[in-house]
Amino acid sequence: MNTPDSRQLDAVKIITLPRIHDPRGNLTFVESGAQIPFSLNRAYWIYDVPAGEERGGHSHHEMSQLLIAVGGSFNVNVCDGENWRTFTLNRPYEGLFIPPGIWRTLDNFSSGGVCLSLVSTPYEESDYIRDFEEFKKTCRKTIQ
Ligand code: TYD
Repeated sequence: MNTPDSRQLDAVKIITLPRIHDPRGNLTFVESGAQIPFSLNRAYWIYDVPAGEERGGHSHHEMSQLLIAVGGSFNVNVCDGENWRTFTLNRPYEGLFIPPGIWRTLDNFSSGGVCLSLVSTPYEESDYIRDFEEFKKTCRKTIQ
């Protein structure tokens, strides 16, 4: 059963993207606002992650995002300030949608693991919450 707190985590979900099967190799695509519930503004990708390293470690005020393992695999750990969930991404046709207000860390990168991130907003440092204690305070304010 969902607690009031875990309902926000339920918004974090895997989106299965279109797959064009082809003997020459498969193809997957995303169009802004079509397969993903936001307008696409920016893309960045994380690669060459040394074994044991962690990325992420922040939340966002406004930014929505879709994370895709376009190569290899990695884990995404998401938190609503109280509850945690872990998703393993290892399929280039699956994206993890993360709305604003969710803390995320990325770890357990495989060799060759590449995280493509499709994002709703231009890069703006003021949109980041990089301190977990501060993040938890913003969650409590939202719940009250
Ligand atoms: P950072 O947010 O720490 O990466 P992660 O997602 O692993 O937490 O970003 C690392 C650096 O890259 C930081 O100095 C900000 C910069 N950066 C940009 O300049 N533009 C971008 O679009 C992103 C995502 C990061």
